[in-house]
Amino acid sequence: MQRSPLGSRTNVIKGAWLLVAAALGLVIWGSTVTWAATPPPQIPHLLKGRENCSICHGPTSTPPLTPSHAGRPASTCTTCHAEASGSAPSAMPSGLVQGTAECLGCHKDDVRVRTDTGQMFSGFIDPQGYASSVHGSRLACTDCHTTISSFPHPNIKIASQRSYTIAHYEACKRCHFTNYTKSLDSIHFQALSSGEQAGPVCTDCHGAHTVKSASEQRAAMGAACGTCHTTIYQDYSNSVHGSALRDENNGDVPTCTTCHGVHSIQKAVSASFRLNSTDLCAGCHSNEELMKKYGISANVTQTYLNDFHGKTTFLVSKENKPAWTEKALCIDCHGIHDIRGANDPESSVVRANLLSTCQKCHPDASENFPAAWLSHYEPSLQKASLVYLVRVYYWILIPGIMGGLMLHILLDLWRMARNR
Ligand code: HEC
Ligand code: HEC
Ligand code: HEC
Ligand code: HEC
Ligand code: HEC
Ligand code: HEC
Ligand code: HEC
Ligand code: HEC
Ligand code: HEC
Ligand code: HEC
Ligand code: HEC
Repeated sequence: MQRSPLGSRTNVIKGAWLLVAAALGLVIWGSTVTWAATPPPQIPHLLKGRENCSICHGPTSTPPLTPSHAGRPASTCTTCHAEASGSAPSAMPSGLVQGTAECLGCHKDDVRVRTDTGQMFSGFIDPQGYASSVHGSRLACTDCHTTISSFPHPNIKIASQRSYTIAHYEACKRCHFTNYTKSLDSIHFQALSSGEQAGPVCTDCHGAHTVKSASEQRAAMGAACGTCHTTIYQDYSNSVHGSALRDENNGDVPTCTTCHGVHSIQKAVSASFRLNSTDLCAGCHSNEELMKKYGISANVTQTYLNDFHGKTTFLVSKENKPAWTEKALCIDCHGIHDIRGANDPESSVVRANLLSTCQKCHPDASENFPAAWLSHYEPSLQKASLVYLVRVYYWILIPGIMGGLMLHILLDLWRMARNR
């Protein structure tokens, strides 16, 4: 049989149809398979506060909602997407007060807060940091943020991040009224109320969401002061006191607040603060037991008071209204924030630097001026032996002469009685 060209053409057409049908079948089958393989993903976050999906998921969100979603109204979202069981974000720490996890569900991400001028700052709150704060197991976010209950939040004016902080720190007042009241007397509050936004508020020192018990935070608190008093903090942390705190978390050395107080810090450059500074040092440096631990003499205050500088200072401090004293106090020789060990080459009282320390007030002092002075030493055979020997000499001479005189008078009286 001869092949009809027509017949073969019909076959080709048939084949083409078959191919089309197969392809179509494949497409349909394929799409069913993909659809079946990609069920609507579950919603991994809490729904409370996020009822309006389109704020975050839309054609322009990142990542954008897939084109398949065109024409699906917001009311239908949850018909296909179910809330993942236990949809509280999985990494949420335990022990949080009810409601907190809902807020953290969003704020564990780098949520951005926008100021009126369009600047952004972070609204990220670390769930772990919050949970381990003193408030973590006691307060809900809404105990401090009393005007916020759901999302979107009420509209508020935010001129800058600093003004936001200042507007919100009074939240602490509600529960810590005493410390708030104390702070009203402080130089910091004065700075704040004179419009200087540089004055610190509660959260500058304590933080807002990671507040720790202050006693755990001795070293950190010094650093908090250092965010504003930078140079002083640097001097302090290299000093004999500050380095012991920084490196060994030493609890015996003074921190900023040991000397300045805490919530009611006053002006430090004043006649009375200057005069009282000697008592501050003496509080620790006359403490035998404490000083023994470090092999430091506990006699320094006594020797200071025996000295000409100390004697006059002591008298001035007894006056009713203390005046500014020009006499050398501990801080004039040792420094204030930069006190060094007496043998530290950078110390202001080490031999090489001592003369220039004296010259601050005795401009004419020459090389051997300091040497003519006893410093904290009690005169002894080893130290200032001449002074010591002169003293010993007088100890012997004066009682000797007095005793001799008395004896002489007594003998004289006895003689007169006998002669009578
Ligand atoms: C405040 C913004 C916000 C709102 C409102 C919101 N979501 Fe989300 N959604 C997100 C973010 C961010 C993610 C990414 C995963 C995560 O970290 O939670 C996400 C993830 C998802 C996912 C998983 C996506 C994936 O790729 O697996 C689904 C589904 C989802 N959301 C559905 C919804 C639905 C439905 C609504 C409304 C009922 C909604 N979302 C409301 C922010 C939001
Ligand atoms: C008819 C069922 C259906 C409805 C209604 C629906 N989705 Fe989906 N959604 C899906 C399916 C299926 C996927 C996965 C495949 C895809 O991306 O289309 C998906 C994926 C997503 C994803 C993850 C991928 C992406 O695009 O980022 C998000 C987010 C999402 N949907 C949010 C929504 C929101 C918001 C709504 C309401 C406006 C909504 N969906 C309505 C079925 C649905
Ligand atoms: C759905 C996500 C979401 C939830 C849930 C959420 N927030 Fe927010 N929050 C945001 C976003 C986004 C911003 C930044 C934009 C803005 O201010 O609206 C913000 C800003 C804030 C701010 C700074 C601005 C302001 O208004 O004071 C605070 C405070 C805040 N949230 C507290 C909370 C508290 C408290 C909760 C729980 C009751 C909470 N948020 C729940 C998303 C959320
Ligand atoms: C003890 C009171 C207190 C609690 C509890 C608290 N906040 Fe705050 N929050 C503040 C104060 C005060 C500010 C002002 C900014 C500052 O000084 O850091 C603030 C600021 C914020 C901001 C703005 C961004 C920032 O860090 O400045 C967000 C967002 C915020 N809080 C969310 C939360 C969330 C979410 C929770 C619960 C997990 C929470 N807060 C719990 C007191 C609190
Ligand atoms: C709703 C009440 C409430 C508010 C508002 C509040 N606190 Fe507290 N605070 C507490 C409670 C309760 C404790 C735990 C007291 C305890 O352990 O004895 C505490 C403990 C503290 C401690 C530790 C006390 C210690 O003994 O060491 C500090 C510091 C502190 N809060 C600072 C703040 C700051 C700063 C703010 C403002 C950002 C603030 N608090 C707002 C209730 C509150
Ligand atoms: C300049 C830094 C600074 C500021 C501002 C500050 N504090 Fe303190 N606060 C401290 C230090 C340091 C301690 C630790 C005191 C101690 O160890 O004796 C402390 C201790 C506390 C304690 C623990 C208990 C106590 O009374 O000693 C509470 C509560 C407290 N502060 C609340 C507040 C509140 C509320 C404000 C705002 C009105 C505030 N603080 C402002 C530095 C500060
Ligand atoms: C947010 C910034 C800030 C922080 C944090 C801060 N201060 Fe201040 N402090 C100021 C400002 C502003 C003044 C007032 C202006 C001035 O005299 O420098 C001031 C003044 C003082 C003064 C008085 C200075 C004088 O002229 O007599 C002392 C003392 C002081 N602060 C100690 C501290 C201590 C201690 C801490 C930590 C517990 C601390 N400050 C934390 C900003 C800060
Ligand atoms: C051992 C006690 C002591 C310690 C610790 C101490 N100070 Fe002072 N501070 C003083 C004395 C005393 C003065 C007054 C100096 C004067 O009369 O000029 C002073 C002055 C100041 C002044 C005002 C003078 C100036 O130069 O601006 C500030 C601010 C200050 N201190 C902050 C701090 C900070 C911050 C720390 C912690 C890093 C700290 N102090 C640690 C005793 C101390
Ligand atoms: C809270 C207690 C305390 C206060 C207040 C204090 N000191 Fe000290 N001081 C110490 C301790 C503890 C050491 C030893 C630190 C170490 O060696 O690690 C020390 C070390 C020193 C040293 C170094 C001694 C040496 O040669 O090793 C000098 C100098 C000194 N202090 C001077 C002062 C002066 C001046 C003041 C007052 C402005 C003062 N201190 C206030 C506790 C205090
Ligand atoms: C006129 C300067 C001057 C004054 C004022 C002064 N010191 Fe000294 N201080 C020195 C010199 C110099 C040394 C090192 C030589 C020595 O140990 O006597 C020293 C040493 C010290 C030492 C180290 C002692 C040791 O055992 O290593 C301490 C602690 C000390 N002084 C604390 C104080 C205190 C506290 C005051 C105030 C009550 C004070 N000083 C006042 C100059 C002074
Ligand atoms: C802060 C300033 C100041 C410093 C620093 C100072 N002095 Fe004086 N000193 C005085 C004053 C003021 C008098 C006068 C006391 C009086 O008349 O009561 C005085 C008196 C004296 C006297 C008594 C004899 C005289 O000249 O009147 C001697 C000795 C002396 N100082 C030694 C020293 C030595 C040594 C140093 C350094 C280690 C030193 N001083 C550092 C302020 C200072």
